[in-house]
Amino acid sequence: MSLLHLVPKSVAAVNGSGIRQIFDRAAKLRREGRSLINMGIGQPDFPVPAAVKAAACQAIVDDHNGYADSAGVDVLRAAIIAHLKPELGWAPPLAGPIAEGQPGLLVTSGTSGALWLAINAVTEQGDEVIIPDPYFVLYPQAVKLAGGTPIYCDTYPDFAMTAERVAKLITPRTKAVLVASPGNPSGVVMNQPQLDALAALCAKHNILLISDEIYDTFTYADAIAACGGRYATPARAPVGGATHTLVVRGFGKTYGITGWRLGYAAGPKVIIEQMTKLQQYSFVCAPTPLQHAAAAAMSTDMTATIQRYSDRRQIVLDTLGPVCGDIVRPGGAFYVFAPIPSKLGITGAQLVNRAMERDVVIINGGVFSLRDTHFRVSYTVAEAHLRAGCQTVAAILKG
Ligand SMILES: Cc1ncc(COP(=O)(O)O)c(C=O)c1O
Repeated sequence: MSLLHLVPKSVAAVNGSGIRQIFDRAAKLRREGRSLINMGIGQPDFPVPAAVKAAACQAIVDDHNGYADSAGVDVLRAAIIAHLKPELGWAPPLAGPIAEGQPGLLVTSGTSGALWLAINAVTEQGDEVIIPDPYFVLYPQAVKLAGGTPIYCDTYPDFAMTAERVAKLITPRTKAVLVASPGNPSGVVMNQPQLDALAALCAKHNILLISDEIYDTFTYADAIAACGGRYATPARAPVGGATHTLVVRGFGKTYGITGWRLGYAAGPKVIIEQMTKLQQYSFVCAPTPLQHAAAAAMSTDMTATIQRYSDRRQIVLDTLGPVCGDIVRPGGAFYVFAPIPSKLGITGAQLVNRAMERDVVIINGGVFSLRDTHFRVSYTVAEAHLRAGCQTVAAILKG
């Protein structure tokens, strides 16, 4: 007898991630002996720095294997604080209560963990959270499961979630705005004035701005230069930066340790306090030994690795640009979100199928968007494969 009747409608309505569905099909083809070029996965392919791996092993040997304080272990909190102070001028407490006007800090189980806690800290039945379209797949599902309604901010064709676009969507039910720069799936980086305006808008309406900065380190030198020489974040905004912005960051992409499930959130006292309470009864704490190792990881220089990805970005743009036309140049992350030429008359899902027939895995835009007009290439594969994979997609698009 089925137990389906036990499953709430809100849970049953969640589709498994579209990315996973494509990977399941790819895995089946691999089992049949096909050799695929996987440009679908958002998982960096560089080897984890040896010092970072050694730090994880050492932490286990050193008996850091028990529960940690929900807020995070001191050594990692100290490393994050030392990073945030010069970057944002923020100084959360190392331990103990957060003072009035002081930002708080919470170490989380991945960036996803931080986003879940943040969304649940502010959302209840009937509330609205404004998210970008296209979006990272977790955003709408997390909002819906918290009882809220995701309000999609159409950011086509340039993928900038500007204050002007967001302002039209704010209602008395809006609790939060979620922005990601660089974004996934577009890799597009917003500039400081754009982010300042967004923070000021949130301050004006007294709502929370959740800034998903998982790709902060994965922002390329040219995008940093275009933003005046430093990573642009709404946390630095003169209005709403310190008061209304929750910064959410991760370790997985930066150091190639996505499976470690580590991230953090920093921002308004009240929000961090609620998130910490929720963490105590859900994730409990982020993995303790890996928190110790992440503290060591933060002193690892990833510049050369990131430069390599920036070179790969150029391979994708050079190969697909001539067939796709206006691809918005990504300034970070490791994705290109390219439009399918309309004269071809096919959807993203159809393109994915045709590419899969030719042993190339890409993800269709509809997985990240209300429309299915684009496709995402992850340049997380070695250069030769990347070139071959993009040439295959270009050949399909040429018709
Ligand atoms: C924009 C964005 N936010 C959050 C996440 C989740 O990251 P984590 O693995 O740290 O939970 C991802 C992962 O791909 C992402 O692209």
